[in-house]
Amino acid sequence: MKKIAAALIVTALLPLPMQAQETAEKLVASMRKAEMTYKELMTLMGKSIGMMQEGVVTQNRELVEQGANIIYTHPAPNHQPWDIMKPEDQAGFKQALLTYDKVLDENTNEIVKASRQRDWLSAAGAVAQLQTSCVSCHLQWKDKAQKWPLTVK
Ligand code: HEC
Repeated sequence: MKKIAAALIVTALLPLPMQAQETAEKLVASMRKAEMTYKELMTLMGKSIGMMQEGVVTQNRELVEQGANIIYTHPAPNHQPWDIMKPEDQAGFKQALLTYDKVLDENTNEIVKASRQRDWLSAAGAVAQLQTSCVSCHLQWKDKAQKWPLTVK
């Protein structure tokens, strides 16, 4: 039994080195391209957390699910997201995109899980956690964004 358990753990761990090779380019390429800028995508993110927050406050599970779906399935913008950063900031922003893509999904999973259990207090805590993730990225990156599309003169 122990051996089987150990083998299972090893198998579960195997993809980890692969994850290290995951790049922001691949992540973005895996998404549908939408006709909007990164900034407009962020507007959608704002709607999404708003729907989930309202869904939790009013105990409306469908509103939570639909808001969550926006986070899970959001498209890529019509330009590379890091285009909005200065060249020296692009590598760091790519790393942030990779990291936060997973974090936002995980935070959203917690909101959905708690609301499905009608554990509204936990769901409210999970909404706060998601918001903290949004704010963390904004603290580091929002002011570094350049105006996009860049006006060529
Ligand atoms: C990977 C980092 C990152 C994460 C994570 C992130 N944002 Fe943003 N967000 C940005 C950046 C950068 C901007 C500025 C974009 C610009 O001005 O072009 C921004 C801007 C915004 C704006 C303002 C858009 C506008 O029209 O000025 C909203 C609203 C927003 N984000 C919501 C959210 C919400 C809600 C979440 C979490 C669910 C979130 N963001 C997660 C990086 C992030």
